[in-house]
Amino acid sequence: MTRAQAERGEQTAPPVRADLAGRHPYGAPQLDVPVRLNTNENPYPPSAALVADIAAAAADAAGHLNRYPDRDAVALREALADYLGHGLTSASTWAANGSNEIIQQILQAFGGPGRSALGFEPSYSMHPLISQTTATGWIAADRASDFGLDPADAAAAVTRHRPDVVFLTSPNNPTGSATPLQVIDAVCAVAPGMVVVDEAYAEFSRDPSQTALTLLPRYPRLIVVRTMSKAFALAGARVGYLAADPAVVQALLLVRLPYHLSALTQAAALAALRHSAELLSSVAAIRTERDALVGSLRGLGLTAGDSDANFVLFGRFADRHQVWQALLDRGVLIRETGPDQWLRVSIGLPAENATFLAELRNVLDGRAGTVLP
Ligand SMILES: Cc1ncc(COP(=O)(O)O)c(C=O)c1O
Repeated sequence: MTRAQAERGEQTAPPVRADLAGRHPYGAPQLDVPVRLNTNENPYPPSAALVADIAAAAADAAGHLNRYPDRDAVALREALADYLGHGLTSASTWAANGSNEIIQQILQAFGGPGRSALGFEPSYSMHPLISQTTATGWIAADRASDFGLDPADAAAAVTRHRPDVVFLTSPNNPTGSATPLQVIDAVCAVAPGMVVVDEAYAEFSRDPSQTALTLLPRYPRLIVVRTMSKAFALAGARVGYLAADPAVVQALLLVRLPYHLSALTQAAALAALRHSAELLSSVAAIRTERDALVGSLRGLGLTAGDSDANFVLFGRFADRHQVWQALLDRGVLIRETGPDQWLRVSIGLPAENATFLAELRNVLDGRAGTVLP
């Protein structure tokens, strides 16, 4: 805006990048309702013992806040490598503010202008969004009608498009199913660039041994992304991480901001990792609730796939928004995401899941949502 325009009180839009103009910020609703089952958080809050440990670790870190944190977060990376196993070390792990920042750093280093990333949709919406904000071209490849992925089809899409980065999500969000290792193997075998396997929900899998971590020794361009936001019940602390060849980690150091991970975050994550057995104990309960919920949804005449995550995709509705809104009107917030006709519900505490099911039954009885076969 010129000074003359400012003096005349004229308003002009700020000169945002042309490729961002008209876009909407990420915005899963954060509403204050009794039952919130929309962002796949872990419903179990930290125990009193963990809260005390995090508070003590934060107090210790607070005494040094005049200094920048360890910009390489070495102690945290060592603890994460120990947790993952598979022979990983601090050199083959990296940590950032949530796995979303990990994904952003990957695209800053390996994507960018003139480069492309490919994902198999429906999948996690931030993969295309972060591609766009890093000026990486996005290629949406298809899944089968049951949302599955065949090794030969996946490899053919990668061979056809030759993307610089491929995203595979396992277990996949929002469909809930794990991606077979044969698919990941087939894609790694033909990909000309990096292959990112987003394993945000890995701990909830029906078979957690089926992790892409097992493929790391064979594929130096494979990156496995994890998070402490889900199974570890630490979404508020913002800690994501990855495992990859040490040369990949070195490449990420080129794009990370100096001191990106605060001393308080590192201290909280380290304290939480000392309690990993306790934190992960909620995973078994969530899996049991999830499988029961799938059965109950089917009992209501709905379609719901088996899930390897802490959420379930269910449908199909002639007008899913009507069902979503009717549930919200009854105090239950779920997520309107993914393919048309489907809704996604996160697994909550047993009482929350029961309320969700009871209200959904009321909504369907009241004919707010026509169920499709
Ligand atoms: C597949 C997947 N990856 C990554 C994330 C990001 O998680 P965070 O940034 O909290 O680590 C999510 C969050 O819902 C997700 O569903």
